Amino acid sequence: MSSNPMTGERRSVVITGASRGLGLASATKLYKRGWRVVAAMRSPDTGMKVLRAATGAGDDDPRLVGVALDLTDPSSVTAAAKAIEDAVGAPYGLVHNAGISAAGMVEETPTELWERMFATTIFGPVALTKELLPSMRRAGAGRIVLVSSQGGVRGMPATAPYSAVKGALERWGESMAGEVAPFGIGVTVIVTGTYDTDIITDAGTTDCRDLAGVYARHHQTMDKRGRAAMKLAARSPEKFAEGLAKALDSEKPFVKTAIGPDARMLLIANRVLPSAGLHQMTRLMMGIPRFGAMRSGGSSND
Ligand SMILES: NC(=O)c1ccc[n+]([C@@H]2O[C@H](COP(=O)([O-])OP(=O)(O)OC[C@H]3O[C@@H](n4cnc5c(N)ncnc54)[C@H](OP(=O)(O)O)[C@@H]3O)[C@@H](O)[C@H]2O)c1
Repeated sequence: MSSNPMTGERRSVVITGASRGLGLASATKLYKRGWRVVAAMRSPDTGMKVLRAATGAGDDDPRLVGVALDLTDPSSVTAAAKAIEDAVGAPYGLVHNAGISAAGMVEETPTELWERMFATTIFGPVALTKELLPSMRRAGAGRIVLVSSQGGVRGMPATAPYSAVKGALERWGESMAGEVAPFGIGVTVIVTGTYDTDIITDAGTTDCRDLAGVYARHHQTMDKRGRAAMKLAARSPEKFAEGLAKALDSEKPFVKTAIGPDARMLLIANRVLPSAGLHQMTRLMMGIPRFGAMRSGGSSND
């Protein structure tokens, strides 16, 4: 519901990464459903034009506010929190959607990438949440939504930094849910399926793969199978936005839910299969050689 049933006031929601992809689709959907939307993004000058065109909102529409936010810059996070509270007071919804992805094996990914990944998905979002929680607690109502991924449920080969931060995001959310529930604030972790946005394309991902290196054999089959499967499974971002709108309506203290059939299936597999079984399943699906097959003296390039 986009309005408070007690006061009739419109509810407000902050969405990070609202410039494109799932954030843009979600901001658009929630605006159209009557929410007051605070669209947080790195480049509001360009991003808000796109969002206004998608929603039909005018420049001065108080139901659609753009706020500058770079999650890797602590001063930007502090300034964004102030701008959010100046615009809407305590937000009802806080959707941590912004994210980055990277392809490459652990040995191929530089430490700088791991740091940027943690800054974008954990340190920045945690800092923003800490800034906003005092007013949300005082308001006595709200929902913090963490946009996770199938990689957060189960670590996937060639995306260790991404899987690591999404797993951390989920544990952070579970911990925080136990803390903020007594104040009337719920937490939802969304395990997101595959959606047709930049993040699933080569251009929208930091590519650290060394296609001629030690892991060339892995990349060869993973690239073919992974890309083909992603294209087949990818759904429209609007479908995700519908799921997010529903998730924001929940009154439960903690929810972990899948949006998308592939994510739903993984959650089921994760519940019924032992960890070692999931490891084997992933290995077979991705065409990775069996244990020990590339030991020195075998077919390794090392
Ligand atoms: N699409 C999928 O299949 C899929 C699957 C699982 C999970 N997800 C998750 O869904 C979320 C949205 O992804 P998407 O598919 O919409 O990807 P996307 O199209 O690549 O959009 C990513 C968004 O994050 C923003 N962003 C990146 N770094 C930022 C930073 N330092 N500070 C602030 N904003 C930043 C980007 O802003 P700029 O425009 O400024 O770059 C952009 O708005 C991510 O958390 C992703 O992990 C997506």
